[in-house]
Parts: sequence; structure tokens; C-alpha cells
Amino acid sequence: MNPTENIDKLMDESRQGEAFYISDNEPVTDTYVKRFYIESYGCAMNFSDSEIVASILSDCSYVPTKDIEHAHLILLNTCSIREKAEDTIRQRLKVINKLKYRKPDTMVGILGCMAERLKQSLLEEEKLVDLVVGPDAYRDLPGLINRVEDGSKGINVLLSREETYADISPIRLESNGVTAFISIMRGCDNMCSFCVVPFTRGRERSRDPFTIIAEATHLFEKGFREVTLLGQNVDSYKWQHPDTNELFSFANLLELVAQVHPDLRVRFSTSHPKDITDAVLHVIAKYENICDYIHLPVQSGNSRILSMMNRTYDRDWYMNRIMAIRTILPEATVSSDIITGFCSETDEEHLDTLSLMSWADFSMSYMFMYSERPGTLAARKYKDDIPDEVKKSRLSEIVALQNDIARAHNARDIGKTFKVLIEGDSRKSNDEFKGRTSQNKMVVFPKEPGFKPGDYVHVYIESSNSATLKGHIVKP
Ligand code: 5AD
Ligand code: SF4
Repeated sequence: MNPTENIDKLMDESRQGEAFYISDNEPVTDTYVKRFYIESYGCAMNFSDSEIVASILSDCSYVPTKDIEHAHLILLNTCSIREKAEDTIRQRLKVINKLKYRKPDTMVGILGCMAERLKQSLLEEEKLVDLVVGPDAYRDLPGLINRVEDGSKGINVLLSREETYADISPIRLESNGVTAFISIMRGCDNMCSFCVVPFTRGRERSRDPFTIIAEATHLFEKGFREVTLLGQNVDSYKWQHPDTNELFSFANLLELVAQVHPDLRVRFSTSHPKDITDAVLHVIAKYENICDYIHLPVQSGNSRILSMMNRTYDRDWYMNRIMAIRTILPEATVSSDIITGFCSETDEEHLDTLSLMSWADFSMSYMFMYSERPGTLAARKYKDDIPDEVKKSRLSEIVALQNDIARAHNARDIGKTFKVLIEGDSRKSNDEFKGRTSQNKMVVFPKEPGFKPGDYVHVYIESSNSATLKGHIVKP
């Protein structure tokens, strides 16, 4: 087979949704085929979007490479959620610019939230960037690349009210072959006062459920055993059938995806405390393959701060939702996002966050210092008046408490047996597998003959720390 045929064959396979990488030592002899390299930053949605971008690029003869030195096109899929996230990208661009000096023909593109937030000014600030493409404009990439090849810059940062990339079959880039993300909606209508996402990702829109089910089915047939349904606020998923007017809620969608196959685990992220319904909790309870795990960001444990954050719930409401979860799903774990040092937060209000964390018994939390984002409601209305040292010391208190809670949480699992989906080798040893429980806890255990990634095993837990459970395989 000549190299061109080989590439054609690989391209066809890639369109079936599997990523492939031609060997970087192998010269690309087909002049129509070029290599792209993509780095993703920030949330799972960005990683999922990069797989859509890979699919769009494969349609115009680009193949992925893992080696930046071999790329004709370098893309950074960026995050704007905190100032630090943008600083990281700018640092990375400095390194990439050096490469571009050496190889001026390399095309460099910024995708995602930073492209959307900074628009044209990004091209002016970062002279060596050729492409700036917002999250709703990825279909335009081939055209924009042509413009750059003709000597212009390529920019499209138009946001859309309809785009969901529903018909695009993502190419799984960093796949373990077992777990995959499925994007079910885009944008956010919530306007939390601290958050830049509604400005960078636009209005909320939901994807056709039939394309979601088709994607889940296809993944299962390919050997995947877990899908995570992604959206900024999955509980507000809403889709109306254009012919029958039938309405699909998130509870309906979850049930349909769970029915794809009992061996396909279903997870979802992110839930919003104001929107998560008992109907969703009952669907989780009804299906063994919908995981007993809810990521339910609280952000703060104090009602005044929650109101300033425009979260539209208070401390009592959040506690009530946790109680509903405990009643309907007694085995479920809950994790959270927390922001410390939001505008005017007092020491007492910070203590309210600590006490709520203990009460809610979060299995895990993502914790951040407040970072003012230009253009947000909070930036316009409130002063970012908590000194950095105070933000930092509150953050370290929160991190220390979460570690203690997680350690105790995991210690309670010792002596129990969990059904675990094997994801691959553990980070530390090829003699051990890693996998997750339904409750999203990472479990490490010695390999045994006959088991492979994608298999379910029962693991008896012998020990634990704040991040991991350790055990061994037992008969169910
Ligand atoms: N500063 C700090 N953290 C933020 N987040 C969102 N915006 C900001 C900000 N301006 C956090 C929230 C959100 C998570 C994805 O990032 O906790 O849930
Ligand atoms: Fe940002 Fe709030 Fe939307 Fe989450 S729900 S993306 S925090 S505005």
C-alpha cells in the first residue's frame, strides 16, 4: 500500500470516531495531507470541542499529530475562566512563537473562550497568531485556514443561538477507549455574576437527543463503557421535537441514554442547585448504570454572598437539595466547586462555607480564589476588595478541610466492595489497574489474568487516602 492510500484508509477510519496518529517519523508524502497539533485547556467542554475540531479538520485533509514540531497547524483551545488560565496560555504562546520564528510556515490558531473574549485584539497583541476562532465558529475553520494560506489573518468569533455540532462525529483524541464525553448542550443563560462563560460561550441551546443517543450507541459498539453528558447546566437541558412538539427534559434524556445498554455507564456534569429536580434523582435511582454521583457546585455557603453571585438559591435551598439526594439516592456522593474571597466576603461568611462543606460531606471539591473577569456583572457592580493574602489563606483553609472530609469519606469505604469499571493501568505501576466506582472514586488494585480495560470487576477496599481507594478483585 502506498503512503497516500494508507493515509486515506486511516482518514476513513478516523471518521468513524477513532483518533489515529500517523507516525511522526513517517514523512507525509501526500501533499494534500497536513498535520495539526491541538492542546486543550480548562473544562471538559473544551476537551470535547477539540474532538469536534479534529473531525472538522479531518474533512479538509488534516491529520492529528502528538508532536508539536511536526505540525503544520498548531491550535490552542483556550480557557478564560480565571486570569491565571489566560496567563498560562500567554506563556505557552511565547514558546510556540519561538517555534514559529524557526518555522514561519507553521500556522498558529487560538480557539475557544479566550478567542471569543479578546477577539481582534488577540491578533493585534499576539502578532504571530494567524487564526482566532470562537466556540461557535469551528465549522468555518477550513475557510479560515484557506484565508491564512492566502496571506490574511483568519478570524470568526460569531456566537450562534443554534449551533450544537449535532451532526459532527467527534474524533476521540486522548482516548483510553473506555470513557468518553458527549456534549449535550452549549452556552449558559445563568449569568452568575463572577462568570465569563455566558459571554464567551453565548446563549444556552440543547442538542437533538436522537443524535446524542446515536453517539452513545456508536461509542458502546466501539467498546466504550462510560459516557459523560456535558453541559454548563445540564439540568436546564430542553429540546422540542420540531414535528411533534414533544418536549425532552434532562430527566428524559438521561433515561434514554441509560437505555442504550445496561453495561454503558452514564455520568453527567455540571448540575445546578437551582435546577436539579427530584425527577432527575428518581431516574438516577431507577437505572443501575447511571452513576451515583452528582457534581453540584455550591460556590459559597453564605446566602448573602450567593445572592451577590446571582446564583438564585440560598444556603437553605442548597441544603434541601442535598437532603433530597440523600433521601432518593442514599449511596450517592456529591462534589462541589467553591470560590473563596468573593467581593466583600467577611471572615464569618467564609466560615459559613466551611460549615456547609462539612455538613454536605463533599467527596471532592474544585476550589478557587475569586478572579475578577472583565465585563462580568461582578466586575461592573462590586469591588474586588479581598486582599490576595486573605483569599489565599481562606483557600488553604478550604483545601485542608476538603482533604480531611475526603479522607474520612474514603476511610468509610474500607471493608466495602464496589463495582469498578477498569480504565487502564494505574499511574504508578503497570502491575495495577485503575478504575472508578459508580460514586466516582478512583480505585487502584492489582491486575489479575483475564481482565482488561473496559471490563467491570468487583473490588474489595482494603485501604484509602484522601484521593484514592486501594483493594483487590473479588468474586461478586
Ligand atoms: N473566579 C474564580 N473561580 C471561578 N469560577 C468561575 N468563574 C470564576 C472566577 N471569576 C469557578 C466556579 C465554577 C468553576 C467552573 O470555576 O466555581 O463552578
Ligand atoms: Fe458560569 Fe454560572 Fe453558567 Fe456555570 S452556571 S457556566 S458558573 S454562569
